[in-house]
Amino acid sequence: MAKIERPPVELYHDRVAGIYDTIYDGNPYWEVVFEITWRHMVRFLPRDMSARCLDVGCGTGRWGMKIIKSGYACDFLDISQKMVDQVAKKLERIDNLNFEPRLYHTSISEMPDIDNETYDYIVGQGDPLGSAGKPERVMKELCRVLKPGGVMVMSVDNVYGGMFHYLKENDLLGLERFLKDGRTNWVTDDEREQYEVTAFTPERIRKMCEARGLELLSIIGKTALPLRRFQDQLKDKKDRERLIKLEEKLNSKPELLGCAAHLEFAAKKIS
Ligand SMILES: C[S@@+](CC[C@H](N)C(=O)[O-])C[C@H]1O[C@@H](n2cnc3c(N)ncnc32)[C@H](O)[C@@H]1O
Repeated sequence: MAKIERPPVELYHDRVAGIYDTIYDGNPYWEVVFEITWRHMVRFLPRDMSARCLDVGCGTGRWGMKIIKSGYACDFLDISQKMVDQVAKKLERIDNLNFEPRLYHTSISEMPDIDNETYDYIVGQGDPLGSAGKPERVMKELCRVLKPGGVMVMSVDNVYGGMFHYLKENDLLGLERFLKDGRTNWVTDDEREQYEVTAFTPERIRKMCEARGLELLSIIGKTALPLRRFQDQLKDKKDRERLIKLEEKLNSKPELLGCAAHLEFAAKKIS
């Protein structure tokens, strides 16, 4: 029987699944980004606690787990089986789960096992939307499984954040190409694991939502303040909280969206 080749994005994430959490744990910058992310996600969580949620590109399940711990039912989906396995292990450790979470090993570009209008809330953190091929088509598939009135919160790479890489490499041709369509490559040592990623501008996000009849509720930049360069200042708990509060005031300002490495948007499927 012919061996099915895993796509590069799956190969890469299969390899890092076992160590994925340790890459971020204990890093003050990422802890702040995660706090800002969660506060933004919470704003759009359904009021109805019986709502059904889906964490797409779930990785090790960081966000779906938080959703479950907040009292909702959440399913998980990832293109990497090894990531899905990590989620399964975490779920085993939760006592008294009052629902049976579904775990899907598939790409968000095609989710044949999920019926139309299944979910009230979909979260996709860490850019699965930009890693899945044609993003406009992927949005169509995400909208298909979202209920009318449901909300998706998706985090993507920001074109304006990606420009630095090309300038640092003095790759002007690369920069010109990147600015045309936001397409770039995730660079790893092993060429078989290099996959195409699309970065977005706020304008493209707006157009994409409009094309799918979604109401764009919010776009934030993560982060508006250049916090990555000042990680030491994030170690002190009080300073950290002050900076998070400032960040929350700044990160939706249109004139600052260009400063951020990532953009996160929340959009509602019109009933
Ligand atoms: C950067 S990680 C983020 C993981 C998790 N959402 C988090 O924030 O911790 C991106 C995840 O998206 C998954 N992914 C990438 N492309 C995907 C696709 N087309 N369909 C489903 N999952 C995908 C990867 O396997 C990986 O687990």
